[in-house]
Amino acid sequence: MSDASFLSSQAPSQAPSQAHASPLPPRLNARVSVIIPAAGSGTRFGAALPKQYLDLCGLPILIRTLHVFEQTPCVDAIVIAASEDFHEHIQTLCTTHRITKLAAICPGGTERQYSIFNALNTAPILDSDVVLVHDAVRPFCTPAFITSLAEAAMERGSAIPGLVPKETIKEISSDLSVRSTPPRQHLRAIQTPQAFRRELLHSSYAFAEKQGFIGTDDASVVEFAGNTVFVINGLEENIKITTPFDFAVARMLLERS
Ligand code: CTP
Ligand code: MG
Repeated sequence: MSDASFLSSQAPSQAPSQAHASPLPPRLNARVSVIIPAAGSGTRFGAALPKQYLDLCGLPILIRTLHVFEQTPCVDAIVIAASEDFHEHIQTLCTTHRITKLAAICPGGTERQYSIFNALNTAPILDSDVVLVHDAVRPFCTPAFITSLAEAAMERGSAIPGLVPKETIKEISSDLSVRSTPPRQHLRAIQTPQAFRRELLHSSYAFAEKQGFIGTDDASVVEFAGNTVFVINGLEENIKITTPFDFAVARMLLERS
């Protein structure tokens, strides 16, 4: 690694505080793994360092995200897709912060979808029954939420979290005139973790790769391959840190808890 001095703090491990502490959910009768795509460069955030490595109230965002899966009993293995420049740094962070479930770090791709596809072909994922995919930059999901997604995917093949949009959503034309106003009750703003039976996700990604299809989330890849995807209720605080404004919101969420 060229220069690690600008990287986030390596203070001794401390569990990030959970906004809603609840009893730990039980293990599932299935092997459950999570893929954490962390190979983005954070263009919209605009920091010198990719946002997943930034320090958020004393811990790197990536470590806050990993802690939640570390604390979820049904999750057996974590695979991170990241730029090879950061593999050594991730390994050091995981050792320092006691992320014991880290099973592999694989190279990222130029698109999020390629990062996921690389991770899907690692041994820990190939050994799994259920695979969750969760953005490195969503540090606020919870063990109970993860477990309900994994259980639902085990039962129905897929489970993705969605929230009814708070704003009215318009479909527009290229001249910015409104084309339609879809009824809000039929819309969902989709988050991660997205959970799937491993074979379903793998075969869908292989099909998309062959067809040259790039989706905006994992579910869209599964849908493109002709499969039904099921939505469950999302979690309001499970925000994605995309811009400096989201980072400020994340700090406020941590400071209030
Ligand atoms: N990601 C990835 N591989 C890519 C692009 C994105 O693994 N080629 C990951 C990011 O690291 C992040 C998640 O996918 O954890 C969601 O992506 P996003 O929020 O868009 O992050 P960036 O791509 O880093 O940000 P931007 O689009 O603003 O450049
Ligand atoms: Mg991106």
